[in-house]
Amino acid sequence: MALLDVIKAPDPRLKQIAKTVSKVDDAIRKTLADMLETMYINDGIGLAATQVGIDKRLMVMDLRDGPNEEPNPFKMVNPEIIETSDQTKDAEEGCVSLPYQYAKVRRSTEITVQYLDESGNEKKLTAHGLRAACIQHEIDHLDGILFIDRISSLKRNMIIRRLMKEKKANVYA
Ligand code: NI
Repeated sequence: MALLDVIKAPDPRLKQIAKTVSKVDDAIRKTLADMLETMYINDGIGLAATQVGIDKRLMVMDLRDGPNEEPNPFKMVNPEIIETSDQTKDAEEGCVSLPYQYAKVRRSTEITVQYLDESGNEKKLTAHGLRAACIQHEIDHLDGILFIDRISSLKRNMIIRRLMKEKKANVYA
């Protein structure tokens, strides 16, 4: 396994729409394993391939029910939301591509996602609450959308300014 570099916003690569995977092969399985390792090391609960500069519709997530729970990783190829609830909820989100930035984002409270697992089998998962929000957040990444694109422009600009400051500080450090 290998750690991948996480792209930090603002960056045009985070605006790209990722391509559909045509075949789930060993290269895809290795990428998914690397993404999961990268997600864990960055204390994330989800990661999309777009965030590590890979132009493929891949995402990983691991949401445990509590700190003592066993790891519960999901690896999804070509995830697609096929059902969403009418009910929505505002909940705070963060993102490893936007370090230390948080905002409340409105999402559907329940979704059903269809995807291929790492063996290429078609799967469906119905998710609620935080897990549903996480899947929507990661699929947004694959469509070039960040969580700050779903909040007011005032808050978005404030966060972008802070991120640009952070980037500048790192360049001259
Ligand atoms: Ni994210």
